[in-house]
Amino acid sequence: MTLRAVLAGTGSALPRTRVSNAELAERVDTSDEWIVERTGIRFRHVAEPDETTATLGAAAAREALAAAGLEPSDIGLIILATATPDNTFPASATKVQALLGAPDCIAFDVAAVCSGFLYALSVADSMLRTGAAKHALVIGSETFSRILDWEDRATCVLFGDGAGAVVLSAEDVADDRGILATRLHAEGQYCDMLYVDGGPSTTGTVGHVRMQGREVFRHAVTNLAAVLGEVLADVGLSASDVDWVVPHQANKRIIDATAKKLGLPAERVVLTVDQHANTSAASVPLALDLAVRDGRIRRGDLVVLEAMGGGFTWGAAILRI
Ligand code: UT7
Repeated sequence: MTLRAVLAGTGSALPRTRVSNAELAERVDTSDEWIVERTGIRFRHVAEPDETTATLGAAAAREALAAAGLEPSDIGLIILATATPDNTFPASATKVQALLGAPDCIAFDVAAVCSGFLYALSVADSMLRTGAAKHALVIGSETFSRILDWEDRATCVLFGDGAGAVVLSAEDVADDRGILATRLHAEGQYCDMLYVDGGPSTTGTVGHVRMQGREVFRHAVTNLAAVLGEVLADVGLSASDVDWVVPHQANKRIIDATAKKLGLPAERVVLTVDQHANTSAASVPLALDLAVRDGRIRRGDLVVLEAMGGGFTWGAAILRI
């Protein structure tokens, strides 16, 4: 028997308001055609003032707990990945804990931008396997609309708001269920390629997203293909063994190019970028929840998750459902 972090449930939450490319083009100098051709994005959800990273995260967490058949009191660990916390502090994870009515447990945020969910998943996996908790909530939740410069058409059309969550349970398994391997990377010399031009310790403001899109694109395809190769090698499997890839949903062209590099057919890639745009740390758990709920991802499937974002940071995980 091996102690592993096993996926027990998934959930997600999207803001009430959905904005199409055509609606965006009414206030930004852009077009549906440009956005679809360059990114594959058609819609994004945008949070209203009463919808925050913590409220969306808590809504996704409630769904994941229900799917796992667990109560908030069963949770010993909450890790929330975000670049758009409700407040500079406390951690939005503690606000989610309060909203859920979960008693004393471990709760903290992880900041790795679009790779945040992979970082959070990897930390939770390690903590569950060393006995820190029996059940963990791992959440990716973002309200990126709050940090977009709506005058900068090169960035504001790309992002959306939302949350995704998973419950992981530490289980002694006799087979290969659970998280089998994770890999994380960061190369801080590229931190100026994708960043927010504000912060508590520098400007004292929240700031706006700035990005050198072409450079990010180039690094994303190379790094994501490499890290997927790493997790597959870690478990001695190849791309043909993979049932589903759940990639970070930044750009359909990045997703297609990465899958092609690895020889993964498009039918095995979960795609939500058209509906949600780039929801940063929320994108992977949102897409995972969608594919679990619509019956594509089933018990026994081999699934790989990957993401890359500001820092640069990137990572991947491989798990048997
Ligand atoms: O999680 C990671 C986060 N980020 C990413 O993954 C993004 C990675 N990068 C990308 O996805 C792409 O680089 C973009 C979609 C951001 C941009 O695509 P691109 O093919 O690299 O376009 P570009 O930035 O080189 O711009 C091409 C043209 C420019 O016009 P000129 O100079 O050729 O006349 C831009 O001004 O497109 C123009 N442009 C737009 N036009 C209409 C830029 N944004 C827009 C827009 N609507 N929204």
